Amino acid sequence: MCGIIGYVGEKEALPILLDGLRRLEYRGYDSAGVAVAGKKGVKTARAIGKVAVLASRCERKTLSGMAGIGHTRWATHGKPATRNTHPHTDCTKSFFIAHNGIIENHEELRTELTKKRHIFKSETDSEIIAHLIEEEYRDAQNLEKAVQFALLRLRGTYGLAVMPNVLPGKIIAARMGAPIAIGLGEGENFVASDAVPLLPHTRTVLYLEDGEMAVVTAKGHAVRTLQNKLVTRGAEMIEWSADNTQKGGFPHFTLKEIREGPEVVRNTLRGRLIMENGLANLGGLQNITQSLHNAKRIIIVGCGTALHAARVGEYMIEEYAGIPVEVESASEFRYRKPVLDKETLVIAISQSGETADTLEAVREAKRKGTMTLGVTNAVGSSIARETDAGIYNHAGPEVSVLSTKAYISQLVVLVLLTMHLGRERQMSLSAGKRIAKELEELPKKIEKIFAQEKEIKKLAKKYAKYEHLLYLGRKYNFATAFEGALKVKEASYIHAEGCGAGEMKHGFIALIDKNFPTIAITPETSVYDKMLSNIQEIKARGGRVLAVATEGDRRIMRLADDALYIPKTLEMLSPILAVVPLQLFAYYLTLERRLDPDRPRNLAKSVTVE
Ligand code: G6P
Repeated sequence: MCGIIGYVGEKEALPILLDGLRRLEYRGYDSAGVAVAGKKGVKTARAIGKVAVLASRCERKTLSGMAGIGHTRWATHGKPATRNTHPHTDCTKSFFIAHNGIIENHEELRTELTKKRHIFKSETDSEIIAHLIEEEYRDAQNLEKAVQFALLRLRGTYGLAVMPNVLPGKIIAARMGAPIAIGLGEGENFVASDAVPLLPHTRTVLYLEDGEMAVVTAKGHAVRTLQNKLVTRGAEMIEWSADNTQKGGFPHFTLKEIREGPEVVRNTLRGRLIMENGLANLGGLQNITQSLHNAKRIIIVGCGTALHAARVGEYMIEEYAGIPVEVESASEFRYRKPVLDKETLVIAISQSGETADTLEAVREAKRKGTMTLGVTNAVGSSIARETDAGIYNHAGPEVSVLSTKAYISQLVVLVLLTMHLGRERQMSLSAGKRIAKELEELPKKIEKIFAQEKEIKKLAKKYAKYEHLLYLGRKYNFATAFEGALKVKEASYIHAEGCGAGEMKHGFIALIDKNFPTIAITPETSVYDKMLSNIQEIKARGGRVLAVATEGDRRIMRLADDALYIPKTLEMLSPILAVVPLQLFAYYLTLERRLDPDRPRNLAKSVTVE
């Protein structure tokens, strides 16, 4: 959700803050603001909308100084308005704060502080933090203590940066449920809500844990718990480079990241396939080898696109490893009372590794003594750190709000995991070898799909006029239908629904007419004939059909109105190819509707609040 950047060092803070905010825009773009500590105290600038608007309003002269904080907002409490834009401050303008998260007891704190004559300027829950610090500072006369006491009064979640006016050159960062990364440089240090804005400056990053607070100056940093215990955890090196977070000549991150598909498959597979044994070597599972061996049941949790990947994983693992698998949205799992035991494995899939519900699902599993495994793309993220074992996606940073390349890498990781689990159970050597060989072929096959980009663009032109789209898929491509529809909803705002093809007759078919086209995911698999029957039924009711089919499929050519083609592969791998034309289709539909695919309205890349 909201993005935070903070800087203390020997350089002008403003350009660093603005650059950081631009790189963080995927976390929220309702409004943005900065506060810079200079010789004449802290000055702020705030603007509604994109960071570019803020940048055009920032006067370098007024906002000169070598320490500052910035924030890009995804609105929770209070609509997008200048008064609700961070950084917020207290009555005396002594403490400036940038907050990501939700303060659940903000109403009672606001009432209490109002009685003490504090005047609030915004409708946000965040502003109370600044006033609480002001209140505590009056008694403590010590910044660290004031922040610590104020934080102990909060209920809810926060990733927080506090910059005082009283002691310029210092930022206090704190974390409870929303990520905070401290970037360590030479003569300069940084605070951020994730590592991406730090990459142009440093790759040495220290992640705070819940209940920790860091005092950051140009010369160093010190981490303590809110109970004042010194923390001596070391920093981590981030592999990603700043180049990965630029558009690299593409008009949008979305297109750049879709086109990275072949490279992403290669990176996810790198060093992990043992071809001659049909095995997958996953170093991150070493800790739990014995428990994996004993696992009798698996529950996979995730949100959004990650949840769709989980569904494909369920089918693969059940078919090839013979372990019963359940898939559940993390937001449900964490609140109901799931029956868990020592022979269950909970797998959490999350690109960011920070999705609040997925992280809480991991914690719920751990509380019950169940083994957890994280499939994440962000090294050092909360889920990566808190799970018992993990598999990294190695997809590189994903900036577009639409998850595309991360989905592909999640599916590849799940194939590797299936091989790992399957080969020590029921999967034969020849099946393992066949899967390994086909995995290696995927990058070339994805490239072949890109060759149809012009055709996809043309089809997008044709379909952009529709207000509703139905996505149909079955078995391994059941999830592809939901994922294809999700991409379209998220970016083009066309109402799109995913549906298991077998369920169509139980409701959806009532909606079919000439204004409600169907995208039928129909590669040559074991359910191909069933899918053809569904297409016939739609055609018989006057519905238009765009099929995603296997190259050379003549029957589809005769039946569907339009078709896109994917190369032949194993059925279990077909979702990895079938989603690619659907990602491009969603991208071009969005452009046809003159919308920005990188910044869909109301969405954020990483949902760190409930
Ligand atoms: C948000 C994003 C989606 C993403 C989901 C889960 O909704 O917009 O693209 O799939 O969160 O994110 P995660 O980082 O946990 O995979």
